[in-house]
Amino acid sequence: MLMQIHQLEQHMPKPFGIPRFPELKLSLPPLLDEPTLIIDSRSNRAFRTTGLLGSGGTAKVYGVRGVNGFGREQALAIKIPVDAEYSRLLIAEKETLERLDHPTIPKAQALIRFRCRECLVMERVGGNSLRGMIGQLTAIEAVRTGRLVLGGMNYMQLRGYTHNDLKPDNILLVGATVKIIDFGIARRKNGPAPEYVEGTPHYMAPERFRLKAPNEKTEIYSFGVLLYEMLSGELPFNATSVSELATMHMQTIPARFDNERITPELVGIVLRMLAKDPEQRPTIEEVIFELDFYMIAHAISTNQQTQ
Ligand SMILES: Nc1ncnc2c1ncn2[C@@H]1O[C@H](COP(=O)(O)OP(=O)(O)O)[C@@H](O)[C@H]1O
Ligand SMILES: [Mg+2]
Repeated sequence: MLMQIHQLEQHMPKPFGIPRFPELKLSLPPLLDEPTLIIDSRSNRAFRTTGLLGSGGTAKVYGVRGVNGFGREQALAIKIPVDAEYSRLLIAEKETLERLDHPTIPKAQALIRFRCRECLVMERVGGNSLRGMIGQLTAIEAVRTGRLVLGGMNYMQLRGYTHNDLKPDNILLVGATVKIIDFGIARRKNGPAPEYVEGTPHYMAPERFRLKAPNEKTEIYSFGVLLYEMLSGELPFNATSVSELATMHMQTIPARFDNERITPELVGIVLRMLAKDPEQRPTIEEVIFELDFYMIAHAISTNQQTQ
């Protein structure tokens, strides 16, 4: 296991744990220049890009104008893998998105082939990523945002999926709601154990470093890291190497965070989500209850103050 982590570190800062397929290593030009016209080499459907919307570890996402099935023009997004070997993530992402239908999850439209890569055409989502708000949220804003994410997570779990890469970068704040994006490593629950450790090490449950299949409890752990970070402005565990992070997730007790606006119950549930033993972590229903309770208590006390 440690061997594996050590080997994976050699690939950093490339996305952690993405298996490599040497047979797919074609001599492609890197995706350096900004494409303006994207033509699907299978259907010849064309898209004109309107600008870069964002980039992550595996892909760049461009805004495009496209025509929908009814001939109406619409604003879409195209996710283009930075390396052809990541095409498999976008194929998987499209399959997952097609099975999910929820206001917090963007809709997939098509897979197109461009520069020998599989690219995902999807609903374009406005708004900025939660990453830019870390350290600036009030407690009630953090709880409200977390509650919206939990709504999407709960829906995914009921449909039998786990996202496996929950983090502020993959949550977009859109008006009064959120969109969860980046379903490349989402999996059906109770599937086979993964062959490689996949995900973002700062947010991963200890058992995922031991190649246990992701489930509700691994997802609750990642949500715990996310809520901890939103409430305190800091990650519970921070280090530069994957093996150090793995050890911290497995052994280190996270520091308590304090803030006069945060109740002991809220701190308690966040720390329980970060339990090393998955059995000790709360269920999603318990977390929903605690966050709803906090929001109701906050609304009542704000009302009393203004009366
Ligand atoms: N549907 C979308 N609409 C608008 N922006 C998007 C959309 N999907 C992704 N983005 C932007 O592109 C960035 C990278 O997308 P993401 O799917 O997270 O790629 P990666 O798998 O490389 O992390 C996101 O952080 C976000 O800013
Ligand atoms: Mg991402």
